[in-house]
Amino acid sequence: MTVPIKISPSILSADFSKLGDEVVSLEKAGADYIHIDVMDGHFVPNLTIGPEVIKKLRPLTKKIFDVHLMISPVDNFINDFAAAGADIITFHPEATEDISKTIELIRKQNKKVGISLKPKSKIDLIKDHLDKIDLVLIMSVEPGFGGQKFMPEVLEKTKKLKEILNEKKLKVDIEIDGGINFENCSLAKAAGVNIIVSGSTIFKENKGDLKKNIEILRKN
Ligand code: DX5
Ligand code: ZN
Repeated sequence: MTVPIKISPSILSADFSKLGDEVVSLEKAGADYIHIDVMDGHFVPNLTIGPEVIKKLRPLTKKIFDVHLMISPVDNFINDFAAAGADIITFHPEATEDISKTIELIRKQNKKVGISLKPKSKIDLIKDHLDKIDLVLIMSVEPGFGGQKFMPEVLEKTKKLKEILNEKKLKVDIEIDGGINFENCSLAKAAGVNIIVSGSTIFKENKGDLKKNIEILRKN
C-alpha cells in the first residue's frame, strides 16, 4: 500500500517582500501545506516571523498552515498562533517545561499537535506522548536556517519511530524538514516519512519552477 505524500513548502526560502503572492503561487503550484518557520533568536540563532504576518497571510489561501515553532518558552504564544490561523502547531520538547501541558494548550485551540525532534534529540523524549499528538517533525538539519545540508543519520531514527507507531497502531504523520532534495526525499519516504518540507529545493531548483519542483518531490 502506498502512502499519499504531502508536500509542505517552507516559505523561509520565499521572497519576503511579496510573501502573500508567494503563498498564492505555492497553492497554485500544488502544495498541500504551507510550512511556516517561526524563530525567536533565542531557541535558534535566527529571527523570522510572528503571528501578525500569519494573520495577514491567512485570508489568501485555504491551504493548511503548518506552523513550526522554534521559540522558547513556547506556551505563551500558542493562543496567538492559533488565533492567527495556524492549523498544525509544532513545538520542540526542549522549549517547554511540561510537554503534556503544551499539547493540551494546542488541543484546547482545536489545532493539530506536532512535536519536532532536532537531529540529536531522541525519540525517548516524546515516546510517552505519541498517542496524544498528530505529527512528529524530524529535523534533518540543526534548526535555524534554510539551505543547510541534509543529515542522513536521522533516517535511522525515522525508521525506529515508524516501527514504534506501527507497533502501537498509532496514526501519526511523520514529517521531515531540512536539506531535502530530489534524491534524499526518496530515502525519507522509504524510512516512513509522509510529509516533506522543502524550502531551497522548491524555490531554487529548475529556475524556481514551483510546480515542477513540488511534483518531483512528490514522485521521487
Ligand atoms: C530550518 C527550518 C526548515 C528550513 C527548510 O530551521 O525548519 O523548514 O527552512 O529549508 P531547506 O529545505 O532549505 O533546508
Ligand atoms: Zn521548519
